[in-house]
Amino acid sequence: MAVWRETKMRKIKIAITGSTGLVGSRIVELLSNEFEFIPLRYPEFDITRKDVVYNTLKDLLFDIFLHLAAYTDVDGAEKNKELAFKVNVDGTRNVFEVVEFLKKKFIYISTGFVFDGKNPPFFEDSKPNPLSVYANTKYEGEKIVRGRAMIVRIEYPYRKSFPPKKDFFRAIKERLEKGQEVFAVEDMFITPTFIDDMAYGLGCLFKNFTPEIFHLVGSKSYRPYDLARIIAKKFSLDESLVKPISFEKFFEGRAPRPQWNEVKSKKNNFFRMRSFEETIP
Ligand SMILES: NC(=O)c1ccc[n+]([C@@H]2O[C@H](COP(=O)([O-])OP(=O)(O)OC[C@H]3O[C@@H](n4cnc5c(N)ncnc54)[C@H](OP(=O)(O)O)[C@@H]3O)[C@@H](O)[C@H]2O)c1
Repeated sequence: MAVWRETKMRKIKIAITGSTGLVGSRIVELLSNEFEFIPLRYPEFDITRKDVVYNTLKDLLFDIFLHLAAYTDVDGAEKNKELAFKVNVDGTRNVFEVVEFLKKKFIYISTGFVFDGKNPPFFEDSKPNPLSVYANTKYEGEKIVRGRAMIVRIEYPYRKSFPPKKDFFRAIKERLEKGQEVFAVEDMFITPTFIDDMAYGLGCLFKNFTPEIFHLVGSKSYRPYDLARIIAKKFSLDESLVKPISFEKFFEGRAPRPQWNEVKSKKNNFFRMRSFEETIP
């Protein structure tokens, strides 16, 4: 009689911060079949509290620490500089120190905003030059972990639905659905990233961890003006509501942004990221 031996591979255990956020919640939704996530939720797990971080992590069984938690309000960070640094820099240091002490793998989610948008395109080895407080805090976080952790940069993430937080795609779509004008910048590039693609790409990286930088971004950069028109067309909404506006005027009085942020990857040979037109959810 044949003996059937069931060899069950143990799922990689991933402790994750920011699992209630726009990006983290979708990662957990999509990858939970393949990986075991251990969500570390705010406020019980506050990354700014060293004691809480140490006491929670010291006895936790995990293979990878995926760090998404951040202060993410780009304009708000200009006024709340101290808080942005406390969460994004001190918080990252707090979790990284303990994870490194425990000899576990660490993945830090960062942003294409670390670049200045002046000489595109920007690859993994391009030199960061952050312009805003938020971008500075994220880059300081990178500096704490780089060489010893994986850094994954994303740009303008979007998804089909997530009521707690709007992304650029749903913000534009909802305005057009209400018949409201959309002022969209015509002299700027952004690189929209479909969160589902980013999540699956990240899944490949979980299985092939290396302490390097990766860009997991959409395959094409766009002018926001063109994006808004693509959205109007796709959902049969009134394209004439989309009005062009200059970069300078649109961001007047707000945090500085990288203007021509064509972010690309020369290292992603593991997952085909798609363009906005291919993935409009
Ligand atoms: N969204 C973007 O456009 C974008 C672009 C590029 C890169 N990123 C990066 O991607 C990551 C995820 O962004 P996101 O848009 O998904 O963020 P998000 O929706 O704003 O969520 C932020 C997450 O961080 C948690 N958090 C905030 N302060 C915390 C603290 N002191 N301790 C523990 N957790 C805390 C929040 O918990 P609560 O829900 O309880 O507040 C939430 O889960 C961030 O690292 C961000 O810098 C985002």
